[in-house]
Amino acid sequence: VSLDDPIVLSQAMLPTDANAAGNVHGGTLMKLADTAGAIAAARHAHCRVVTAIMDSMTFERPVSVGNLVTLRSRVTWAGRTSIETRVTIEAEHIVSGNRYRVSTAYLVFVALGDDGRPAAVPPFMPATPDEQREWTAAEERRRFRLSQRDRVVDV
Ligand SMILES: CC(C)(COP(=O)(O)OP(=O)(O)OC[C@H]1O[C@@H](n2cnc3c(N)ncnc32)[C@H](O)[C@@H]1OP(=O)(O)O)[C@@H](O)C(=O)NCCC(=O)NCCS
Repeated sequence: VSLDDPIVLSQAMLPTDANAAGNVHGGTLMKLADTAGAIAAARHAHCRVVTAIMDSMTFERPVSVGNLVTLRSRVTWAGRTSIETRVTIEAEHIVSGNRYRVSTAYLVFVALGDDGRPAAVPPFMPATPDEQREWTAAEERRRFRLSQRDRVVDV
């Protein structure tokens, strides 16, 4: 296992993961995506991280109780104290082996020092053309997020 490998989390979906209609609850998958992204970010930062923002997350196909869901996460960008991760979710019908993509999401985590304040993280160097493309797209996503940052209105 190399530190460049994605984080892989697999979990069988149980009745406690279901919504009222009997499919897997979107919130279950969001929580797992947060966990998978946080592990990739903390492994890069070598310290505790908190979720700063999760981009809009689509659910392309429903997931059934009994399916195995597998999440893969990796770092796509790092700034001074923040780290972007990409998380993909795949579902598998264990008996037939049929697998399909459920979701892709980008999450940003902020590293925290012992004082609880944002702390500097090691640089992330894109090594392959795919990583370079992701990095460029991540910079675009960051510009958009920061442009939205001050628009949140307290109620
Ligand atoms: C995330 C948090 C630490 C940011 O604190 P802050 O005082 O606003 O810190 P800063 O303004 O210095 O921002 C820190 C980094 O986060 C980034 N960031 C903050 N908000 C962001 C957003 N909406 N989108 C993208 N990046 C964001 C900043 O760009 C900066 O990154 P950089 O150092 O790589 O340039 C703070 O808002 C917090 O503690 N939130 C709660 C986190 C939490 O508890 N999550 C769990 C769910 S409840």
